[in-house]
Amino acid sequence: MIQKPKGTQDVFGVDAQVYKYIESYTDNFMNLYNYGYIKIPTFEETNLFYRGVGESTDIVNKETYDFVDKGGRNMTLRPEFTAGVVRNYIENKFYSEQISKFYYFGSAFRYERPQSGRLREFTQVGVEVFGPKSAYLDAEVISLAYRYLSGLGITNLSVKINSLGDKESRLRYNEVIREYLKNDYDNLCDTCKDRLNKNPLRILDCKYDGERDYIKNAPKTIDYLNDESKEYFENVKKALDLLDIPYTVDASLVRGLDYYSHTVFEVVSNIPELGKANTLCGGGRYDGLVEMLDGPSTPGVGFAMGIERIMTIIKELEAFIPKDTLDVFVMSLEDSGFAYQVVDDLRSNGFSCEIDYTGKNMKGLWKLVSKYEPCFILIIGEDEVKGDYITVKDNNTKEETKVKTSELIDYLDMNI
Ligand code: HAM
Repeated sequence: MIQKPKGTQDVFGVDAQVYKYIESYTDNFMNLYNYGYIKIPTFEETNLFYRGVGESTDIVNKETYDFVDKGGRNMTLRPEFTAGVVRNYIENKFYSEQISKFYYFGSAFRYERPQSGRLREFTQVGVEVFGPKSAYLDAEVISLAYRYLSGLGITNLSVKINSLGDKESRLRYNEVIREYLKNDYDNLCDTCKDRLNKNPLRILDCKYDGERDYIKNAPKTIDYLNDESKEYFENVKKALDLLDIPYTVDASLVRGLDYYSHTVFEVVSNIPELGKANTLCGGGRYDGLVEMLDGPSTPGVGFAMGIERIMTIIKELEAFIPKDTLDVFVMSLEDSGFAYQVVDDLRSNGFSCEIDYTGKNMKGLWKLVSKYEPCFILIIGEDEVKGDYITVKDNNTKEETKVKTSELIDYLDMNI
């Protein structure tokens, strides 16, 4: 028997309801902040991710799904959206506008070791904003993430922020950290030995070396910011205070992707069901990325969240599970086909409606009523067809009313 690939999920039943609920919540929520929906390809040229996400990251080094297409081109399933959104931004010359705000919702793919909260195909919702470099915009993006999650009923959130500084601060920091790691070189894993040259910051969040005390005690970016970067970070904090967003500064936060500069942040949930995979959201500023992908120098800031992790929490919030209710279940007890006409008419008039197609007897039909829990049950037998009426039973009060067929829609309109 063929089974679903490791690290993937089928989403159905209550999970599907929660998923669809989050999707429509997202559309409404993003509208409040004036972000426009963007859909980008599921796969892109491999090079985009090498240059965008960064060669020294785990994501690109070990986790991409790569393939060569029939035309001999190297392609990669998107491991995240930011690089693709930037590619789209440059390709469509959105830089002629002062500000562009996008949001997305869809699958991303990473060949990770499957475990709770870590899938090979997962869903990200995220935003990317291009144009202004404003501390208020960093604060808008962080507050959007926080309020989005709170709006879903998720409490016990912590927002962690840090600053990696601008290019000048990063170069200065790279020298400091290389010097610090000089005597530790032999202890580094092979990947980190390579990272020492390419991007020493990456060593701090290495799954192996990052756990060692020597690395945990390494110098922090925040202590090597130049004046401009320091002032920018202060302004982001002030803006967050103004918006009343609770946060803590976490000097060890560096994030796992290469494109960040200045502000980086994560939103973490403390519920035990998530275990170690408790980061719901990660993001930050990436002022060099547009240029790195051959666009004009343009600041950018954004984040992405993992929908499956959010769903794990929402499912714990019993009261929050949205239940799809069925308006009407039609019981057909005669065989002229009239009941099927009624069902079609009801659906055309906007009522959700179901009928049996398997020839169930009375007992079976009532079992379906228990399963679907409709608001109304319509009973259509020979008497009803002859008398041109329908017996309508309120599934809540259990009251039965004979309604003239021509008045059925009005009756349901008034009572649902
Ligand atoms: P990221 O931290 O790699 O950032 O991923 C963002 C979120 O996606 C994580 O916090 C987590 O909730 C979810 N996630 C990541 N990997 C998995 C997985 N294997 N299984 C389930 N959920 C996962 C980015 O992707 C950046 N593009 C965020 C960004 C946007 N920065 C600026 N703009």
